[in-house]
Amino acid sequence: VTVYLKDYQPPAWHIEAVELDFDLDPDATRVRSRLHFRRAQETAPGTPLHLDGEALELLGISLDGEPLAADRYRLDEAGLEVRDLPETGLLEIETRIQPAANTELSGLYTSSGNFCTQCEAEGFRRITFYPDRPDVMACFTTTLRADKSACPVLLSNGNPVASGELEDGRHYVTWQDPFPKPCYLFALVAGDLGWIEDRFVTRSGREVDLYIYVQKHNLDKCDHAMASLKRAMKWDEAVYGREYDLDRYMIVAVDDFNMGAMENKGLNIFNSRYVLARPDTATDSDYQNIEGVIGHEYFHNWSGNRVTCRDWFQLSLKEGFTVFRDQEFSADMNSRGVQRITDVNILRTHQFREDAGPMAHPVKPDHYVAIDNFYTVTVYNKGAEVVRMLHTLLGPEAFRRGCDRYFERHDGQAVTTDDFVNALEAANGVSLRQFRCWYDQAGTPELTVERHYDPQACTFALTLRQQCPATPGQSAKQPFHIPVAMGLRDGEGRALPLRLYGEAQAVGESRVLELCQEEETFVFQDIAAEPVPVLLRGFSAPVKLNLDYRDAELALLSAHEDDPFCRWEAGQTLARRLLLTHPPEALTGELIQPLVEACRHTLDDAALDPALRALALTLPGEGYLAEFVDTIEPQQLHGAREALRRALAQALRPEWEACYQALTETGPYSPDAAAAGRRRLRNLCLNYLIACEDEAAYELALGQYRSATNMTDSLAALQALVNSDCPQREAVLEDFYSRWQADTLVVDKWLSLQATAARPDTLDRVQALTGHPAFSLANPNKVYSLLRAFAQGNPVGFHNESGAGYRFIGEQIRTLDARNPQVAARLAAAFTDWRRYNPARQAGMREQLQTMRDAPGVSRDLYEIAERSLGEE
Ligand code: ARG
Ligand code: ZN
Repeated sequence: VTVYLKDYQPPAWHIEAVELDFDLDPDATRVRSRLHFRRAQETAPGTPLHLDGEALELLGISLDGEPLAADRYRLDEAGLEVRDLPETGLLEIETRIQPAANTELSGLYTSSGNFCTQCEAEGFRRITFYPDRPDVMACFTTTLRADKSACPVLLSNGNPVASGELEDGRHYVTWQDPFPKPCYLFALVAGDLGWIEDRFVTRSGREVDLYIYVQKHNLDKCDHAMASLKRAMKWDEAVYGREYDLDRYMIVAVDDFNMGAMENKGLNIFNSRYVLARPDTATDSDYQNIEGVIGHEYFHNWSGNRVTCRDWFQLSLKEGFTVFRDQEFSADMNSRGVQRITDVNILRTHQFREDAGPMAHPVKPDHYVAIDNFYTVTVYNKGAEVVRMLHTLLGPEAFRRGCDRYFERHDGQAVTTDDFVNALEAANGVSLRQFRCWYDQAGTPELTVERHYDPQACTFALTLRQQCPATPGQSAKQPFHIPVAMGLRDGEGRALPLRLYGEAQAVGESRVLELCQEEETFVFQDIAAEPVPVLLRGFSAPVKLNLDYRDAELALLSAHEDDPFCRWEAGQTLARRLLLTHPPEALTGELIQPLVEACRHTLDDAALDPALRALALTLPGEGYLAEFVDTIEPQQLHGAREALRRALAQALRPEWEACYQALTETGPYSPDAAAAGRRRLRNLCLNYLIACEDEAAYELALGQYRSATNMTDSLAALQALVNSDCPQREAVLEDFYSRWQADTLVVDKWLSLQATAARPDTLDRVQALTGHPAFSLANPNKVYSLLRAFAQGNPVGFHNESGAGYRFIGEQIRTLDARNPQVAARLAAAFTDWRRYNPARQAGMREQLQTMRDAPGVSRDLYEIAERSLGEE
């Protein structure tokens, strides 16, 4: 069944308060719920109350203390319908569920023997009968009873208000959450967990106790998460004026989790990979991701919890906004330029691809089958770009005023993306009418730029034209309101003052042009010689830019542009041109000399942040390059990139070596941005050196592997070796496993490394690894590390001519679908793009999609992905 935005109806019944009582047992948990309901004013008397329910066993139901007669309610697939209710009353429902048998990891389940929940989006209905929709908000009181030795820790949302001993070695704790919330923010955790504690005092003086709960053997890996949480709390006060509102903030790490983390009110539950870090087990990027995700979930307390979504079509209201907030937090804590380039890379590699394929959907989708399929890069990352554009168009002060208005107007409400834009408009007296297209129209707009220099008049004209390709269900598009941050540079790379036609004097050297029409021309005055235009500084809009730069202009920008994104982009464009216009064997000598010189210059540029140097020296990824070809030939893209990497490696061998040695450090590990940047550049040097495939390079990598005292350097050395022909590669892989086999998150890295290795035997190895004790289909992280890493991170392996990669992954997906549809559907995304490949590959991929779609008992989640991917046939 498809759900449509246009069918939205406000809830007919409100739940004012709910009391939940859990008798926890892994095999049979009893849930008693007391719902204090009230009929909505607009609702006609006699309208039944619908309660969602899934995989529940109903044990009893009563109304205002009396058992409810059988003809007053009806049970069906979707839940429970109760008839002839008074205007207000108390409905008591008792159900039984089986947490240990819950392999979907949605609702109440067990992970490593502990109880935990995941209710977003529609998991609460797997715990008890309830109106499982975000616009029904209630105050929750939750009592947990469990065996005291198995579950000494009993947690839920809010504050603990009572606890005590029970018979048979059981005990209980009651929690009360004073903030009304939708049930998707409900959480409970019970088990034998250790914790660390800290404290944060808000700027108004509220004392908040902070807790991180983990399995006891992980207690030495929580400090970075705790420090990140305190930084996030401080940042939200400083930048948005938002304070925390409860007496305690709890984070729990669990090993089995479908997604990254969950912002349950006062009780966040995290995939342990976004909490646990120790220098010897976590890489610099793990440290970065933890800080970002901890921030993300914390920021949801305002953008998501205090103000929530009216319905799931509004998902980007909280996710797009919160991703923007976490990106800016990370930019402020680390290097802004590096952060922006990283975020743009994710967007262009994954979201642009989604937007160009059969799963393309607007930031605010208008229909779905399984909402869990819409936790996408479009809703999250493009959604964040949309908020970023609002920030760019309004400027920081006006944007902040608008956000203040939004939080003030809608505190305690469930609202829409339109309400967000309305608040920004109202607070600033502006109209964002046309801007709203970004929420409703799918597809990546293309921005084509034509330039004309007039030496007589000393004017420079930029003509900007926009066009957005058709996407499923949307053939014609309205023009978007596009902010184009730009500047001009002269032949020496100096920034020019910008005076637009009609202006009395120049206004700065960087400004934001607003393109609202299909085509507009902007004329700059007093330009003495033909300038080099710089467009989309900071990547000011999620569009594709077409501008016919000459190579020399790109070289100039890559050496002189101040905006880190545009400077990096110029170098990437130069490299991309080489990679896409020449066969691999031609990528040597004269042809690549300009790129070699640019790289040499970057390597030597001691004034440039090492992390930015590393980014500039990294060739565009195969996934991004694929966006520029009509038919993707994975082996060809990979071959070209490898050839160029080898050529650069050899042409600059002494330079890579010197830079590597110069960056050698001996002090203790610190994950700070500067130190991480140096490691990144040094490990990139190693990566080039190993491409020379000589004994000296192997020795260097082996030496680094043996002596490394942190996971970043250890893993970088291992990765270099695994992707080389070094005779010791197998031995080192084995050594790594025997050293780390007890650490499940490190084992994930070991699996990914093998799944993404560019080796002819990778498919065989991945297949063999599915039978290895380190692998399990029951754990999403294992599936992502091995199967998704192979299917989406190893194009050459997955798209093997024989079709064996498709058959293998297709089979794994079908097996997985019976146990965890959400994870199966995520893995199926590897097939969505089938039309981009040659006919033989198309046939192989399509066959798998058809088999998935037509499998008996296929889940809604997987069906939707397969069906939409196949499209009209
Ligand atoms: N709200 C969570 C976050 O982005 C994501 C949870 C989504 N889970 C799911 N099963 N769809 O922080
Ligand atoms: Zn989120």
